[in-house]
Amino acid sequence: MIRFVTSNRGKFVEAQSLIEDLVQADLGYTEIQADTLEEVVLFGMRELSSRLDSAFIIEDAGLFIEALNGFPGVYSAYVQRTIGNSGILKLMEGIENRAASFRSVVGFSAPGMEPVLFKGELHGRIGFEERGTGGFGYDPIFEVDGRTLAEMELEEKNMISHRGRSMKALKRWLESR
Ligand code: IMP
Repeated sequence: MIRFVTSNRGKFVEAQSLIEDLVQADLGYTEIQADTLEEVVLFGMRELSSRLDSAFIIEDAGLFIEALNGFPGVYSAYVQRTIGNSGILKLMEGIENRAASFRSVVGFSAPGMEPVLFKGELHGRIGFEERGTGGFGYDPIFEVDGRTLAEMELEEKNMISHRGRSMKALKRWLESR
């Protein structure tokens, strides 16, 4: 059994459909404001290591929009909470370059060992309107081959997504230990 420390049910469901051994732990931890997802994850893992006495993972993700020089990036949660998808669409008005990517960094920690990080990335485009009802967060405005992630079933999103990739890398590593 591995705890996935997150308050985000959508993330947990995606991860658990790939790694059955996961259980959600909604414990809360400090998410520092840093320049990279890796720093956020490493800080969170250090804090949680002193509180948990068994194996756990945490994950940090972000949306990086090329024409906005990588914004919202590490500020993705704050931007989603404040201006949301409609705010991003407004910021992108009149911008032709719609290229964007999602990145995911997942960290695994167990007592007596150094934390290990796994990464995943998904390239796509910011659409012109929100479409679809699946997924969460930025999914309705993030398109891959003309369809948004919110228009895909969970299995299909998992096959291509940043989180699907980082979780599958973790799974391979767990199986090879
Ligand atoms: P965090 O990893 O929880 O800090 O996520 C940062 C922000 O990106 C949150 O607002 C999430 O809702 C959003 N986000 C993270 N992963 C995804 C995803 O797979 N699709 C859409 N939005 C996401």
